[in-house]
Amino acid sequence: MDIEILSLFPDYFKGPFEESILKRAQEKQLLSFRHVNLRNFAFDRAKRVDDRPYGGGPGMVLKPEPVARAIGSVRRSDSHVVYLSPQGRVLTAGKCQELAQKSHLILLCGHYEGVDERVLEEEVDEEISIGDYVLTNGGLAALVLIDSVARFIPGVLGHEEAALQDSFQEGLLDCPHYTRPERFGQRGVPEVLREGNHAKVAAWRKAKAVEKTKRVRPDLYLRYLAEKGEETRKFLSGSLKEIALSCGNDSSVRAFYRKILGFEEREERLHAPFIGTSLVLIEGENTSPTFLVVEVEKEIFATWVRRLRRAQIDYYVTSEGSDTYLTFCDPAGHRWQVSPKIEG
Ligand SMILES: C[S@@+](CC[C@H](N)C(=O)[O-])C[C@H]1O[C@@H](n2cnc3c(N)ncnc32)[C@H](O)[C@@H]1O
Repeated sequence: MDIEILSLFPDYFKGPFEESILKRAQEKQLLSFRHVNLRNFAFDRAKRVDDRPYGGGPGMVLKPEPVARAIGSVRRSDSHVVYLSPQGRVLTAGKCQELAQKSHLILLCGHYEGVDERVLEEEVDEEISIGDYVLTNGGLAALVLIDSVARFIPGVLGHEEAALQDSFQEGLLDCPHYTRPERFGQRGVPEVLREGNHAKVAAWRKAKAVEKTKRVRPDLYLRYLAEKGEETRKFLSGSLKEIALSCGNDSSVRAFYRKILGFEEREERLHAPFIGTSLVLIEGENTSPTFLVVEVEKEIFATWVRRLRRAQIDYYVTSEGSDTYLTFCDPAGHRWQVSPKIEG
């Protein structure tokens, strides 16, 4: 894979490519990196690449022409152009694996307030963020992206499976790891790891991974259950006419459904705003919690997110590619994975 980094700071990238795995990947000709200085594409003698924002306000904006010219100077028929931006979709292991299939990446690093929107619309294939915080420029974000993508290029890591056993690969965080010595202060190594029974080790590792994910990243855990879990699932996107959920005898649970999900109460039943499906709440303790995978109209999706936020109920919105999921647990213990209906 060939990677071109377009930024204002060539020195930023010197250290990381001259050490360890990224260095060896270049020696093995699995990766090549080139820095392109945006300043070399300025029009005027002063090499100005930024200007004041239209509409006023603080900071400067990278001008569109130098950025377009810089991209144009390295673009190939197989190029994939990424703008590193806090407004992009958040980088995931899945996205890294997808990018590792590309043969030519052009990474545009912004600075100041960002980059003129028009050149982004014109030249960029996708915007990627490395997390919900703001960096001073895109250099570090490009390095994070390169390092995490490189791990999925065959031959870059020592043994091929390594990247596939790490956190996020099975939708879970990794299990704990131990090495010698057998005792460290008061702490030992779990017995099961010293017995040599591979099946038992695998089961222990899986259980630990599930336990940690559930505790630390309930958003991932809900997603894992939705995709891999063996629990009951109900699909409400028009395939079922009616679905029953237990809600105990607690009126606050009913209030939750009414307020957050906007159910109307008719004839002792609550009717959900899903196309062709009504949701019936059963009072009593008779049914176990259910996993619900639901598709709703875009407006309903947005309304639910707003109401959950206002009511300070834990929820997670996850985006991957064009898919968006809202996950939350209702007070009766039913888990929901909701996505907005895609038109067309
Ligand atoms: C100060 S930031 C601009 C922030 C922008 N005004 C905003 O609020 O969305 C300058 C540059 O840093 C990079 N950057 C900052 N935070 C980032 C993040 N979380 N992920 C990827 N790039 C980021 C982008 O390239 C951005 O153009």
